Amino acid sequence: MKTFYIETFGCQMNAHDSEKVVGTLIGQGYQQVETPDDAELVFYNTCSIRDKAEQKVFNRLDRFKREQQGKTFAVLGCVAQQEGEKIFEKAPHVSLVCGSASYNQLPNLLVQLETGNKRVTGLSLDTEDTFETPYTRRDNPHRAYITIIEGCDKKCAYCVVPFTRGPERSSTSASILAEAAQLAKDGYSEIQLLGQNVNSYRDPSPTGWDFAQLLDAVGKVPGIRRVRFTTSHPRDFTKSIMDAIGSNPHLCNHVHLPVQSGSSDVLRAMQRSYSIDEYRQRIQWMKDCARPIAITTDIIVGFPGETEADFEQTLALLEEVQYDNMFSFKYSRRPNTPALALDDQITEEEKSRRLAVLQEFQRNIQIRNNVAYVGRVEECMVEGFNKATGQWMGRTSQHKMVNFLRPASDADITGQYLEVRVTRSGPNSLVGEAVQ
Ligand code: 5AD
Ligand code: SF4
Repeated sequence: MKTFYIETFGCQMNAHDSEKVVGTLIGQGYQQVETPDDAELVFYNTCSIRDKAEQKVFNRLDRFKREQQGKTFAVLGCVAQQEGEKIFEKAPHVSLVCGSASYNQLPNLLVQLETGNKRVTGLSLDTEDTFETPYTRRDNPHRAYITIIEGCDKKCAYCVVPFTRGPERSSTSASILAEAAQLAKDGYSEIQLLGQNVNSYRDPSPTGWDFAQLLDAVGKVPGIRRVRFTTSHPRDFTKSIMDAIGSNPHLCNHVHLPVQSGSSDVLRAMQRSYSIDEYRQRIQWMKDCARPIAITTDIIVGFPGETEADFEQTLALLEEVQYDNMFSFKYSRRPNTPALALDDQITEEEKSRRLAVLQEFQRNIQIRNNVAYVGRVEECMVEGFNKATGQWMGRTSQHKMVNFLRPASDADITGQYLEVRVTRSGPNSLVGEAVQ
């Protein structure tokens, strides 16, 4: 039996793709091992969202440059799609390069390698298919990902995704609901709907559902207690999504709505297709919801042309929205993207300064706001036990991490839902005790 190792970089879409790739390989008779040293086939499922992410795969491959030990190396994912055959020049010991839109080709490509081909590629983007497989091997026994839409049709000036994952393709609502029902039967209670832009989901079958209708229906699948979704684009984020969340208690109290910048000028340069006032309106829908919606976002600092005044508008937006969490990045120039050609690049030093200021600003917001949770009882889905601290880890519907103690018991409570009283708070997590 042939052995394989896979390492995954990047977003949840990639993590879930790897679960499908693993299932496909096992279905083909391969056996998964824990280290590249033990494997005959080594897969890297890569990310190219920023230059640093892209470099990781080449660092990994460099290690094996001299001593290949009869191994076969495969590069999957976004770097594979972006760099294509150039990967064979940069890392001559690689023999398979395949982008996410061509993963149904993987079994076939592996056969080609076995029958003597030295180098094989799967790089087509004009595929109608989404990558569905009956063999998905999910890493977590309680929370499952379902891809509802692949690719992205937006043209954000900084972003590689339209080039690496191709145009949008939605799955049918019938197949998504059938998968959710099967997952519930298999004991999963939380589902995370995935897509580069879930809000532009459009059921290709005559049902013709939009994202809000799909979300509501998934939240009504018997046995599914929590539904999350990621990631959203503000342009396509409709009031009906908030109406669904407001009326369906299985839809989690959390929306991740990346804004990228608080300045309409920068948003225009980024080709984000919304103004800051339109974004504010979406935030208002969330604040108007009867349930307390945690709001999180992504920010890019140092996009070409971003002035100090633009940056201050981003800080002002953080203050106004009071985000529950923020992921922030220095702008990174990416191949093929429109922003590559823009003048007025910001220096690395200035980007680092803005990032540090931004993160400190947001940290203080989180410290201030998380204090309000102390004394409250929150329902947590238990994610596991932290041996180092002797505490259990759970997540609230708002996606807040709670580290908590539980009266002595050896029982594994992972996957259960427990009431936890919050006793302390920090910027990134809460501390509590399980309620008897
Ligand atoms: N440089 C920096 N950050 C980026 N992101 C996407 N492209 C880039 C880039 N070229 C960030 C955005 C996006 C998140 C997933 O990564 O904030 O929402
Ligand atoms: Fe990285 Fe984007 Fe590809 Fe996800 S879709 S792996 S974030 S480049």
